[in-house]
Amino acid sequence: MSASNESGGAETPAKSPRFIDDLKRTHRCGDLREGDIGKEVVLFGWVQSRRDHGDLIFIDLRDRDGLTQIVFDPNVSDEAHTLAEATRGEWVLGISGRVRARGEQWSKKEQKMVSAVNPKLPTGMIEVVVNQATVFNRAETPPFEVTDQLDTREEIRLQYRYIDLRRTPLQRTLRLRHEINRVTRNYLSDQGCLELETPFLVKYTPGGARNFLVPARLAPGKVYALAESPQLYKQLFMVSGFDRYFQIVKCFRDEDLRLDRQPEFTQIDVELSFVNQDDVFKVMEGLVFAVMKQALGIDLHELFPSGRFPQLPFAESMAKYGNDKPDLRFDLPHVDLTDTVIELDGGGVPFWQELVAKFKNGTFRRDIPPEIVKALVVPASANLSRPQAEELEKGLRDIKGFKGLARAKIADDGSWVQSPLSKNITPEARARINEACGAKPGDFIFFQFGKTDVVHTVMARLRVDVAKKMGLIPEYGHGGKWKFLWVVNPPLFEFDEDTGKWAAAHHAFTRPVDEHIEYLESDPARVLCYRYDLVLNGFEIGGGSIRLHDPEVQKKVFATLGLDEAQARDKFGFLLDALRSGAPPHGGIAIGMDRLVMLLSGAPTLRDVIPFPKTNQGTDQMTGAPVAVDASQLAEVHLRPVVPVAPGGNKDDQGY
Ligand code: AMO
Repeated sequence: MSASNESGGAETPAKSPRFIDDLKRTHRCGDLREGDIGKEVVLFGWVQSRRDHGDLIFIDLRDRDGLTQIVFDPNVSDEAHTLAEATRGEWVLGISGRVRARGEQWSKKEQKMVSAVNPKLPTGMIEVVVNQATVFNRAETPPFEVTDQLDTREEIRLQYRYIDLRRTPLQRTLRLRHEINRVTRNYLSDQGCLELETPFLVKYTPGGARNFLVPARLAPGKVYALAESPQLYKQLFMVSGFDRYFQIVKCFRDEDLRLDRQPEFTQIDVELSFVNQDDVFKVMEGLVFAVMKQALGIDLHELFPSGRFPQLPFAESMAKYGNDKPDLRFDLPHVDLTDTVIELDGGGVPFWQELVAKFKNGTFRRDIPPEIVKALVVPASANLSRPQAEELEKGLRDIKGFKGLARAKIADDGSWVQSPLSKNITPEARARINEACGAKPGDFIFFQFGKTDVVHTVMARLRVDVAKKMGLIPEYGHGGKWKFLWVVNPPLFEFDEDTGKWAAAHHAFTRPVDEHIEYLESDPARVLCYRYDLVLNGFEIGGGSIRLHDPEVQKKVFATLGLDEAQARDKFGFLLDALRSGAPPHGGIAIGMDRLVMLLSGAPTLRDVIPFPKTNQGTDQMTGAPVAVDASQLAEVHLRPVVPVAPGGNKDDQGY
């Protein structure tokens, strides 16, 4: 046998038909069934495993569609049998042969002949007896086995991603991605959206996510930014009259990475003209229904009979769950005790008394409280032990501003035990808080008080951690539950404590809720806007807004932000001009494709659903990117290194 790379394989007699040229693939390795018995077939694939029974050699041949058992019998072809003897894992073979029913084989375990049928394999009823074979290519011993369950370190898997990608879970996930892409393209095209492209090299604008910068060779000292999203351009498409747009598009953000964030990720980006918020929702609900049905075979009508997802006001989401992406697969709502604590004058607890004083002397506004008190009840049925409660607290320590988690266990008489608050709290306050929380003997109440955003972050995380501890949701994955919802109408502005000014909570071009336009100047805290997030099982899978196209309302929004006409023009430039040149009412949304695939496939991180992802340090484990480049290359783009660069650049740089 030769190791020829040629498609024909040098070991076959000159006159034998050549694989690929003459012998075309007839089936994929997952195709053959009982009904194919007797057929002559040609298969191409990789050697998954090889069992040498002396006279017969069995190989499981693998391609992206499955496995087929192929049998090499010297009585059928001595030549093919000799070739099979030399074959090793991951070699690439072509075979032709006849499909036959699987017979019996000797079981070492049972010490007798047993049926060779494998009911677990779709092709498990048949095997192919090889009459001609070729080795298209040999393979070095892979760094890890190509198998579904693997405990190889992720860095190694990422370093040899092309091997890792051969494994069934990843093959399955990338196929799911393909299906979602296909359904998306078909569905959105049917909705009248045009698939239009937007630039990646764009102007840097401050605000939003941190941008990757690209030095401009032709403009010394200047940079492009890599687009963090097509936002401005898709709005310009509406101004230009394209009416409805979509794009499955890469976006780039130089952010700190976590399990659901990658520096380059994919959005299903949509913008629609002449729509209100509900119109956008209907289009996107239709897309999600179509994706779930066509890519996963799940009919969401069983869970959402009206065909619509529930809507939760942002304020309610923050109050009950501490964030705008609540996981509704379980309940465990937060209890906001701020008003109760104010009514109780602090209830004897020194920290609460200080807090109440700030509300009473007017330091703190009641409508946008900078500090709050929240509680979360863990029912007695959770059987939470003291060490487990301490574990929960430990799990929150990495949250910035976290100072500790007060807790109380409710005794039979309603008193609090295991609690630092118990020595100060008045019996009246304790009873009121037990009542407000609906806490019963044996329950734990966890408390968090202080800066509003820290309290929300801590309690939102705690809620999920408790749910996992109680087994209400799995560590990761959907657990068979699909809790889609819209979180709607957040405030348009947020108050910046440091500057004492109002700032746009999202961006300045989000349309205020119609009924709130009258409060734009008099009471900005009250103004909510048409912004929305699509949430699934505790993850934000999409976000968007109805845009502000009306110049009169725009002026009022800028005034609240403290910008006059000249400043607004300076800051927003061409977008402002474009919106004033006949912009239709419009709005849109972007779905995070990677997050959607992660949640639909039950994968633990985005890295499991992106073919070639970056590590949490932003590096590509396989190519070594980012790498240093030669100083002369930097000079060409008018950069001088501030850290020394070895001549010839980085030795890891493979030059492609
Ligand atoms: P937004 O910034 O909310 O909106 O992004 C939309 C969705 O993209 C996903 N996403 C990410 N996925 C992976 N890694 C990241 N680093 C990352 N960042 C965001 C999320 C998010 O919901 N132009 C607006 C949309 C609009 O208003 O129409 C935008 O980009 O799932």
